[in-house]
Amino acid sequence: MSEGQFGPCCQTGSALSKLNAAHAAGAGLTRRKKSALRRPSQPNQRALINTKMPSSKTDHDQPDGAVPARAPEAFSLRAAGPLRGDVSAPGDKSISHRALILGAMADGETTVTGLLEGDDVLRTAAAMRALGAHIERDGRGAGAVWRIAGAHAPVPGKPGALEKPLYFGNAGTGARLVMGAAAGRGIAASFDGDQSLRARPMDRIADPLALMGVQCRPLGEPDEKGGPLRLPCTVEPPEKLKAIDYTLPKPSAQIKSAILLAALGAEGETVIREPEPCRDHSERMLAAFGAKLSITTERSGRVIRLAGPQRVTACNTAVPGDPSSAAFPIAAALIVEGSDIVVRDVLVNPLRAGFYETLVEMGADISFENRREVSGEPIADIRARYSPRLKGVAAPASRSASMIDEYPILAIVAAFADGDTYMPGVQELRVKESDRIASVEAGLKANGVGVESGGDWMRVMGRGRTVAGGGRVSTHHDHRIAMSFLVMGLATQKPAAIDDAAMIATSFPTFFDLMAQLGAAGR
Ligand code: S3P
Repeated sequence: MSEGQFGPCCQTGSALSKLNAAHAAGAGLTRRKKSALRRPSQPNQRALINTKMPSSKTDHDQPDGAVPARAPEAFSLRAAGPLRGDVSAPGDKSISHRALILGAMADGETTVTGLLEGDDVLRTAAAMRALGAHIERDGRGAGAVWRIAGAHAPVPGKPGALEKPLYFGNAGTGARLVMGAAAGRGIAASFDGDQSLRARPMDRIADPLALMGVQCRPLGEPDEKGGPLRLPCTVEPPEKLKAIDYTLPKPSAQIKSAILLAALGAEGETVIREPEPCRDHSERMLAAFGAKLSITTERSGRVIRLAGPQRVTACNTAVPGDPSSAAFPIAAALIVEGSDIVVRDVLVNPLRAGFYETLVEMGADISFENRREVSGEPIADIRARYSPRLKGVAAPASRSASMIDEYPILAIVAAFADGDTYMPGVQELRVKESDRIASVEAGLKANGVGVESGGDWMRVMGRGRTVAGGGRVSTHHDHRIAMSFLVMGLATQKPAAIDDAAMIATSFPTFFDLMAQLGAAGR
């Protein structure tokens, strides 16, 4: 195995040209379309028919990326009484992706406990395997231990070149971080995803990588409408990657992390300037894996410096509970009369805690107990009780990066508050798994809640405790839209329904089980 790669499967430029030619001829794309038509009843369709308790399975079994046809079903959750119980949040998605990627880049064996076994994260595991790492799981459920033999451990039986694009399904974080990691290890590869991921911009990663000397190009038919680079695309690093001094154009941890992972393989010191700070899991985990990096606060904001090339060393990692997933049962407890729940082991990193800060300002009855640290990250148990006197607030734009994934569920809580909740600085919601401003607005209006929005803001006119419900919400293949409106339906006067629950498995495969444990049933 050559040094500095994940494994022996470095893809050559000529292999990439062949892939490009195949796509240009439409071969790969046509195959995908045909297989979508041929596969009308995969397991995820079966789950869709079971409206009692969907298992939320996605297109795991469709490695070619076919997006299955969906049945016109409807799902809702109802609570027979107060929500009660003590549950653990599933593993944090951001940290799970990073543990797999860094484990695969490290010398030695990394073990990971508490890994989120959601579809998005399993896609990253598959990509890292395709890049040559050996990854296996011992045990099942909460006790499962993932073992990752990294770059410099022997990887038997791998082919000499990647034959297929790395397929990331719905996982934007996986695709964007692995683009940086592959570039950092000098591996040329191509990247693809499902319909939703193919619609998301990739130029935010391609631009800084281009400054490092990496060529990212569209694969297959060029986008007729022009616009930013999207998947499928190729990433071709140069022989020598250049260090850069880069100011993040937006507070995006995906951009920052892709650059940091690439910088591990660059010649010289890479400097990343963050005018507005965003989640810092990559910095924390790089330090835990033995990387040398410095973080200072300067006039330009937070500045991270990493001198390459550097190797990282295996590190046993415990993944804390995901605050973005915990937000759903916690919001449910606040709006369902008489509820009192505890969600254990939740990550409370200040750069992820904006939703909880906002809830406190709204008058929510939540408390943080048993604060402690796990694998270099702060965690706590969060207790949430029914809060009948929620009030609307203005959530400052400066807080948006620390709650970017929680706006859909915040909008639901806001619907049950007295007065308006104003959410400025949320333009990034337009390019998430769906246009979340539009999805939230349509869903709330369909259920009797007033909403106004502009390009980068949203205002929810709270209805107090009487939200009508009765509407059917289009989820647009977006897991957080699906869970948000299922939670809303727990407390509306008439049941509210969503059109699709399958995508929930991308981030929270145990959502329905956990909600059932608390007393909320599907119907
Ligand atoms: C993530 C960063 C955020 C977030 C996403 C996960 C990460 O995206 O929305 O769900 O793990 O780095 P941006 O970097 O685009 O803000």
